[in-house]
Amino acid sequence: MHVLHVVGARPNFMKVAPVMEAFARMGDIRQTLVHTGQHYDESLSGAFFEDLDIPEPDLNLGVGSGSHAAQTGRVMIALEPVLERLEPDWVFTVGDVNSTLAAALVARKMGLRVAHVEAGLRSFDRGMPEEVNRVLTDAISDALFTTEPSANEHLRAEGIPPERIHYVGNVMIDTLDRHRKRAAELDVHAGLDLQPERYVVVTLHRPSNVDRRERLAAVLRALAEVRFETDLPVVLPLHPRTAENVHRFGLDDALAPLITLAPLRYLEFLSLMDRAAAVVTDSGGVQEETSVLGVPCVTLRNSTERPITLSEGTNRLYDGDPDGLADVVREAVVAERRPCRPPLWDGRAAERIARITVEELDGKRAAEPPAASERAAAAGSDSATAPA
Ligand code: UD1
Repeated sequence: MHVLHVVGARPNFMKVAPVMEAFARMGDIRQTLVHTGQHYDESLSGAFFEDLDIPEPDLNLGVGSGSHAAQTGRVMIALEPVLERLEPDWVFTVGDVNSTLAAALVARKMGLRVAHVEAGLRSFDRGMPEEVNRVLTDAISDALFTTEPSANEHLRAEGIPPERIHYVGNVMIDTLDRHRKRAAELDVHAGLDLQPERYVVVTLHRPSNVDRRERLAAVLRALAEVRFETDLPVVLPLHPRTAENVHRFGLDDALAPLITLAPLRYLEFLSLMDRAAAVVTDSGGVQEETSVLGVPCVTLRNSTERPITLSEGTNRLYDGDPDGLADVVREAVVAERRPCRPPLWDGRAAERIARITVEELDGKRAAEPPAASERAAAAGSDSATAPA
């Protein structure tokens, strides 16, 4: 069997790592890794391959930055001859970035089997490019691997045949479990002269928060307020999109009350987040990671595609007037640390994905029904537990 994985942007890398490892453990499976080059800076790409022990990509398509159409189109044009030449049995895509959709489209139209890891998440906000990528990728995938019961419901409601949907757990949490101890040993907070659980970590890069001057200025003002109202240092590793816009909008002075850093590596960021009093973010994956770590999280958006982090985890949404953010964070930093583990977020999601994929190709699935816990979880049952 030949599995070809396509990745492109930072949040893809922690998802592909455990999946490749799980296939490698099964033996006798050829794997090809294609990096589209959507992210190309060492800090957003190369450093993650090192931290996460991901093999060097077999190919880098070098598409770089651009408008949505240009970026998506360039991935499609560059990937097509690669798939024609290699004819893999499966094309694996992860997450919801432009590279995800581009890869799925090319593979589907060539008649290749497409798998989507982290399928079915919906914010119901079509103004988010990621939401468009999710809906379209899911519509054309043959195997859809989901992380939370709501995702199964969305896919069924969209008419995806149930036999294509597999509730497997969360590969991002596989990666977190594997690296948490190593990350903790880095003590990144100490290197920044910060006391454990006495600082706030912020990530900010969504176009809705950073692409308009007025909104970005208001959010940065609110973060300064958080710093003064809570008397806790606020640490902000700057995504290149955000850094560029701060500069372009002439807002450099607004960063003065904050501790700004270059983008952190995976292990560094995990270390910093694990010891934070609270996290303020507009990222998707961070909402899940903080829930498992038990760190209170305030998400600067009006919707989340990961509602289990609200119902079971430590997450809350805040999209009101940025001036009110300091009050919300003040509540968060005194909240009890309450780690949560939704069903099957047990570090073995990738193992399930690899097994199901192989069985699907061998046509064995009909003969071997999935474990009872997986069936229960797929049905959205509260009684689902992790398999032994
Ligand atoms: C992309 C994903 C987003 C994900 C984010 C994580 C899409 C639609 N968006 O957003 O879902 O949360 O990655 O980082 O796929 N840039 C660099 N160096 C790089 C890459 C980008 O400086 O290596 C700068 C460029 O100015 C570029 C801008 O960042 O124009 C945006 O990059 P792009 O890949 O288009 O989207 P992200 O904002 O990174």
